[in-house]
Amino acid sequence: MNSNIEPRDDQTLPDRLVVLGTGGTIAGRAAQRDDHVGYRAGEVAVGDLMAGIPLPVDWSVQAEQLAQIDSKDMGPGVWRLLLARVSQLLMQPGVRGIVITHGTDTLEETAYLLQRVLQPAKPVVLTCAMRPATALAPDGPQNLADALAVAAQPGGRGVLAVCAGRIHGGLAVRKVHHYRLDAFDSGDAGPLGLVEQGACTLFQPWPGAEPDQALLPRLLARQVWPRVECLYSHGGADGWLVRALLAQDAALGRERADRLQGLVVAGTGNGTLHAELLAALLEAQAAGIRVWRTTRCASGRVVLAGSSPEPIPAVALPPAQARLALLLDLLTS
Ligand code: SIN
Repeated sequence: MNSNIEPRDDQTLPDRLVVLGTGGTIAGRAAQRDDHVGYRAGEVAVGDLMAGIPLPVDWSVQAEQLAQIDSKDMGPGVWRLLLARVSQLLMQPGVRGIVITHGTDTLEETAYLLQRVLQPAKPVVLTCAMRPATALAPDGPQNLADALAVAAQPGGRGVLAVCAGRIHGGLAVRKVHHYRLDAFDSGDAGPLGLVEQGACTLFQPWPGAEPDQALLPRLLARQVWPRVECLYSHGGADGWLVRALLAQDAALGRERADRLQGLVVAGTGNGTLHAELLAALLEAQAAGIRVWRTTRCASGRVVLAGSSPEPIPAVALPPAQARLALLLDLLTS
């Protein structure tokens, strides 16, 4: 482990960066060094990932293992831990920036949630890898070094994602490729900037820093977060799935904390919905379920035709982020 890596929460430490490990391919281990697919994510400790990583000059770094998961299994348990620990660290004056090592598969969800809830005035940088730590040429070490460089940027703020030399804003980042090292983009917004040789070039301002003070305590206090499920419109989408959900919910009883509260539907093209699916979704609305629609297209967002209200409101987010947006809306409405 790097000699500048410090134990947890020593308040006498000088200004420092904190690295929180949560698992992912960046911490993955494969039996064969040339195997980029058949490995186990979330195996290598974050302290070991830091070994040999060049630290930004004059900074010390504190590393903590917060979780050790394949991020496909991400959910409220680890999100709650992250929200609590990151908000606690942000309040410490000596902590100048935070790096989170994370799996790529749900990174866009964690980034969205942290930015919406915390809107930090310091940099909180998620980073990841597409190849396991044991690969012949792993991409994790460079991504981690780049993330530390971004976290040490004077004036930096907001939730960011750093991968393959590009800096993405936490609300715009999305995974667009299952195998390429440069697996993320920021849709039509474009990346926030680049990190090259430890130096950042910004094309857009850092993300905003105006936290909604109500969200964090509500998320931390609730044992069960509002249930929001996602579904697609597709050829033959006749609403069967929606009606099955409604029937299941009715059978379990609407007073349960984990009852269905929201549905996000990824529509075709500009968020259009199969007529039979739309009929079922309107039934869901009538039963008190909040329904939002977005597009199942990999890029772009739903463009509204006019100012008249649509029966199913549209949201300009990819489906997994739209799900979190509706969950946050349900918490505050
Ligand atoms: C994960 O998301 O934890 C596994 C896949 C990856 O990190 O690329």
